[in-house]
Amino acid sequence: MKDIKILSIETSCDETSAAVVVNGREVLSNIIASQIDIHTKFGGVVPEVASRKHIEVISAVVQEAIEKANVTFDEIDAVGVTYGPGLVGALLVGMQYAKSLAYAIGKPLIGVNHIEGHICANFIEHKDLKPPFVCLVVSGGHTFIVHMKDFGEFEVIGQTRDDAAGEAYDKVARAIGLGYPGGPKIDKLSKEGNPEAIKFPRANFHDDTLDFSFSGLKSAVLNYLNKMEMTGQEINKADVAASFQKALVDVLVDNVIKTCRLKKVDKIAIAGGVASNSTLRQALISEGEKNAIKVLFPSPILCTDNAAMIGSAAYFEYINGRTAELNLNAVPNLKLGQR
Ligand code: KG4
Ligand code: ZN
Repeated sequence: MKDIKILSIETSCDETSAAVVVNGREVLSNIIASQIDIHTKFGGVVPEVASRKHIEVISAVVQEAIEKANVTFDEIDAVGVTYGPGLVGALLVGMQYAKSLAYAIGKPLIGVNHIEGHICANFIEHKDLKPPFVCLVVSGGHTFIVHMKDFGEFEVIGQTRDDAAGEAYDKVARAIGLGYPGGPKIDKLSKEGNPEAIKFPRANFHDDTLDFSFSGLKSAVLNYLNKMEMTGQEINKADVAASFQKALVDVLVDNVIKTCRLKKVDKIAIAGGVASNSTLRQALISEGEKNAIKVLFPSPILCTDNAAMIGSAAYFEYINGRTAELNLNAVPNLKLGQR
């Protein structure tokens, strides 16, 4: 069978990225221009700034992806692009570019769901991975437990009812003065702290659910910090970071293991920015071993936003004949599995 080469573009948040991916698994190039330094000054992503930056660099990023992959536009089979979920202005920059390019080179356009992209990062990392498996998607904007039954077939088993896991990391990091993005900083500082030092709450729903809630945990951390300040006690930031992280990771691991039992699945794949977290990785590996469940992770560069994962998801759409029209629009709150 002929190799399928997809040029993919991702601009849903604060990374401008373009990649060339063969058959959904082999990455020829994956260029990522991060805007993180600019947004750090504001303590989080400023949507209008993100859109402008995407416009400035997108042409150069796509050009570099093509050059590094050593292919011509003629050899590309389709153009894949993230059309949601994400920041609408940011999404539109990538989409406009992808649509114009697909039209100019006469190749089909494929719209990709960003969350599906995160999941598909695992197909790049693990060349033999096939569904069914359970995927824990944990990023700055999303927290999902997904049962991937087949390629392109997703069932959402649990999701956050308020803050995303990465969002909770970022907010707690800001409160203890670590800056943005908070996840990696809490991950590092926690290694010096005691995870049992402070007992932070785990959300407890009274229904039979595998959903998450992290805003209560975040508020508990903020209340703790306030109380310590008001009573003039010294705050041990490393203990706060480690105890917060333990509370969050415990719930993620519990729910994902329960999902595997429920669905009788023996493979877990992790995805999204928070999948780089070392405590989450260790906890999942150890619980996985106890339950005879294999735990798979993408390398850190495939965990954060990148176009290679979008190229992988686009391939599975392409081989199922799901191409898009040139009037495809951005869907900022696109749901998983929605077409
Ligand atoms: O997937 P991603 O790059 O962007 C979104 O689609 O949201 O995820 C970014 C999120 C941020 O909240 C960041 O703090 C978090 O992932 N993150 C981490 C780690 N690395 C990145 N959280 C915990 N531990 C890490 N090592
Ligand atoms: Zn993402």
